[in-house]
Amino acid sequence: MFVKKTLLTALVAQTCAAATAKAREENAKCSKTTVAILGGGMAGVAAAQALSNSSIHDFVIIEYRDTLGGRVAHTGFGKKPSGDPYTVEIGANWVQGLGSPGGPENPVWTFAKKWDLNNTYSNYSAILTYNETGYTDYSAILDEYENMYEGASEQAGILLKQNLQDQTTRSGLSLAGWKPKKDDMKRQAVEWWEWDWEDANSPEESSFIFGSAGSNLTFNQFSDENNYVWDQRGYNRIIKKEASTFLKKNDPRLHLNSVITNVTYSDDGVTIHKEDGSCVQAAYAVCTFSLGVLQNDAVSFAPELPSWKQTAIQKFSMGTYTKIFLQFNETFWPRDTQYFLYADPTTRGYYPVWQSLSAPGFIEESNIIFATVVSQEAYRIERQTDEQTKDEAMAVLRKMFPDVDIPEPEAFMYPRWSTTPWAYGSYSNWPPSTTLEMHENLRANIDRLWFAGEATSAQYFGFLHGAWFEGRDVGEQIASLLKSECNNVQSTAEDCGNRVYYETLHGSSPMADYSVFDGWSVSSFYSSS
Ligand SMILES: Cc1cc2nc3c(=O)[nH]c(=O)nc-3n(C[C@H](O)[C@H](O)[C@H](O)COP(=O)(O)OP(=O)(O)OC[C@H]3O[C@@H](n4cnc5c(N)ncnc54)[C@H](O)[C@@H]3O)c2cc1C
Ligand SMILES: *[C@@H]1O[C@H](CO)[C@@H](O)[C@H](O)[C@H]1NC(C)=O
Ligand SMILES: *[C@@H]1O[C@H](CO)[C@@H](O)[C@H](O)[C@H]1NC(C)=O
Ligand SMILES: *[C@@H]1O[C@H](CO)[C@@H](O)[C@H](O)[C@H]1NC(C)=O
Ligand SMILES: *[C@@H]1O[C@H](CO)[C@@H](O)[C@H](O)[C@H]1NC(C)=O
Ligand SMILES: *[C@@H]1O[C@H](CO)[C@@H](O)[C@H](O)[C@H]1NC(C)=O
Ligand SMILES: *[C@@H]1O[C@H](CO)[C@@H](O)[C@H](O)[C@H]1NC(C)=O
Ligand SMILES: *[C@@H]1O[C@H](CO)[C@@H](O)[C@H](O)[C@H]1NC(C)=O
Repeated sequence: MFVKKTLLTALVAQTCAAATAKAREENAKCSKTTVAILGGGMAGVAAAQALSNSSIHDFVIIEYRDTLGGRVAHTGFGKKPSGDPYTVEIGANWVQGLGSPGGPENPVWTFAKKWDLNNTYSNYSAILTYNETGYTDYSAILDEYENMYEGASEQAGILLKQNLQDQTTRSGLSLAGWKPKKDDMKRQAVEWWEWDWEDANSPEESSFIFGSAGSNLTFNQFSDENNYVWDQRGYNRIIKKEASTFLKKNDPRLHLNSVITNVTYSDDGVTIHKEDGSCVQAAYAVCTFSLGVLQNDAVSFAPELPSWKQTAIQKFSMGTYTKIFLQFNETFWPRDTQYFLYADPTTRGYYPVWQSLSAPGFIEESNIIFATVVSQEAYRIERQTDEQTKDEAMAVLRKMFPDVDIPEPEAFMYPRWSTTPWAYGSYSNWPPSTTLEMHENLRANIDRLWFAGEATSAQYFGFLHGAWFEGRDVGEQIASLLKSECNNVQSTAEDCGNRVYYETLHGSSPMADYSVFDGWSVSSFYSSS
């Protein structure tokens, strides 16, 4: 027995040595860098800029697509009078929460102004309501919901402040008096417009506490305005322009069209393998893949991610938000209206919101309108052919405008986010009864492997500005680690250590962890308990 064990140990040691030698030999072929940034979306670019700002210039950005921007993505669609296609955004579309005089400003709004991005105020009051019989005014229900929600949000605030048990947004809304009957399709449509449209998930699927806190941190902190970006150069212009402040033209540090397949990490460094067989060896890596990419094991990690990290990845959810674009030869819908809300008689969330690009201040001559679906309806529609979806969409429009002889669209298109291999969904959402502690595990580093992106933001998950803040934070933290002050073992600087994580979840979070919300009035909220 003893002999056997010794032999086994020797054998294992030998195999390990061989494996290490093999790994070393393989690594010798890899190009070397100090920091590898995995993904060139908003978070990746912000991380690289933060490193640059700290005079760390030895990094690479490794990006799947042929461009920077990630989920801020556009495509050509339809025809302009000149014959060229219009640019439409298939991903992020709004700057959400701008800024108020003397108050903090959303960094995305700062960039939109700095880089002269064409955008227009989204007027959510410029809305008409419909059902299967055509126009029918149920706009008063919008006010009913909004008045109720003030009370609901206050209750969510109390749960947060007292560190009490979370619940579904459904229960929160019910307790605040919003109890739409399942067959009250007008109230179902209003609820979809008010909740599902933003979170890409239903009230049942959303945390009451963090849904409300997230909305506050964006819309109460910055401003309640949403500006819709329709710039013909594309919304990702701001990301490319920010990148151009530290990357030169054809900068060798930017690896586009580079699909990462495997990431090997340890407390010595990280090796990144690409589909083309090449590899990059780095002292640190920042993983900015979407939650969907992580959930779908689109990239493999060696060693396997620890169970606390895998749990966090599967705990949070990835929503899908699908915009279905139609261009007609004329604008047959009311010109001055931005939004058309449709209450389908049988299916909640069936082509519920229609948005006009022909409205004043947008692309007025475009004759483009698009519908948005999320979650289960998005999955269903993304599985269909374009032809099937076009027929459904046209049938809805014909119900909404029974007096109009609606021609066939001249162009039709929609993206399929749920199956896009570099995203697997649109943006993350915070599920009910999911603690801040669980979220910290999503955000925590493992050895030299760090994480950033919209989903790692406790305050701004789902939003583009969340991705920017998270990228910046990780870049600054790695910069500190690389600087000499962190090599001093006595260093107590917060930025010099690992991020907090919990091997065992407790079902609630230490109050101290709520300091992530510091910097805004919510913090006085937390500390006053
Ligand atoms: C349809 C839709 C609508 C949205 N609407 C809004 C909105 O109106 N306002 C708003 O604020 N936010 C909106 N968002 C969310 C916003 O787009 C995201 O929060 C933000 O863009 C995320 O940035 P990120 O850097 O975290 O991730 P990403 O942008 O996903 O960046 C990650 C990068 O990693 C790359 N990558 C993935 N896998 C690999 C691989 N294997 N190898 C190499 N590279 C890889 C990807 O190509 C991508 O470029 C929307 C998103 C979608 C999809
Ligand atoms: C880098 O510095 C510039 C100039 O001060 C600043 O505008 C930018 O926001 C900084 N970027 C990050 C990610 O911190
Ligand atoms: C928004 O639309 C409503 C309804 O059309 C209109 O009364 C209001 O003036 C508009 N607000 C702005 C800021 O344009
Ligand atoms: C959100 O803001 C409202 C209004 O300021 C406040 O009453 C509520 O407590 C806040 N909710 C959360 C969860 O922070
Ligand atoms: C921006 O808006 C102006 C004014 O409407 C328009 O003339 C210009 O073509 C737009 N530019 C882009 C790039 O969208
Ligand atoms: C590399 O990753 C792919 C999937 O991304 C996986 O199928 C493969 O087994 C991995 N290879 C190694 C050596 O880990
Ligand atoms: C649609 O609206 C019309 C007019 O208000 C109403 O008579 C009808 O009952 C509504 N349909 C449904 C399913 O509620
Ligand atoms: C659009 O097409 C329809 C059907 O072909 C036609 O009847 C209508 O006149 C056209 N409208 C314009 C503005 O050309």
